Amino acid sequence: MRCIADTAPRPGGSLPVVPAVRLREFRPRDVPVVADIVADALHEHYDASLYVSLSQQWPQGFLVAVSPLDRPVGFLLGVNQVEFEGRILMFAVDRDHRTQGIGSALMETFFERSRGRRLRRVTLEVRVSNATAIRFYTRYGFGVTDLLRGYYSDGENGYQMARDL
Ligand SMILES: CC(C)(COP(=O)(O)OP(=O)(O)OC[C@H]1O[C@@H](n2cnc3c(N)ncnc32)[C@H](O)[C@@H]1OP(=O)(O)O)[C@@H](O)C(=O)NCCC(=O)NCCS
Repeated sequence: MRCIADTAPRPGGSLPVVPAVRLREFRPRDVPVVADIVADALHEHYDASLYVSLSQQWPQGFLVAVSPLDRPVGFLLGVNQVEFEGRILMFAVDRDHRTQGIGSALMETFFERSRGRRLRRVTLEVRVSNATAIRFYTRYGFGVTDLLRGYYSDGENGYQMARDL
């Protein structure tokens, strides 16, 4: 798994407005749609059991954005495997739902949950070529902390990024 995420105020200071989309915790029945988003957005294929087992580690850290019909349109999977540190393992929004503030809502809610758990830092990994995600993370206060050579299965380098909470 490779991925992301902050809580810096958005430019202008306003919170994202995401009409008709709400956030809730992951449920096992989300797996097929979440896996489709992962395949399309992240080009990865994971066994359904992985999502379920990761959700059990910190249920409040696996956030899903759903349509009014409760269909997932984006998600952020965060874990807390290191003391005081959260890590964003996967973060993606369905391509037809991007640039509507859903990613921002997921990120800001994840920061709230992380602070509520007394975490002090959040880390993530991102492909060096993923300019959209790097810009997004930078806007949310993440900075590059390391270059991960050959980190991805196709040999691409990754950046580790982090921000304090
Ligand atoms: C990164 C990603 C999750 C962001 O999700 P998103 O829902 O599009 O995020 P937002 O809508 O909150 O913000 C995206 C951009 O749209 C802009 N935006 C947000 N709401 C907007 C609106 N109503 N109208 C116009 N633009 C808007 C934001 O300012 C932001 O611009 P910026 O990043 O240039 O500053 C999404 O691009 C994605 O799924 N990418 C593919 C998967 C991926 O790369 N994941 C990260 C792997 S590490």
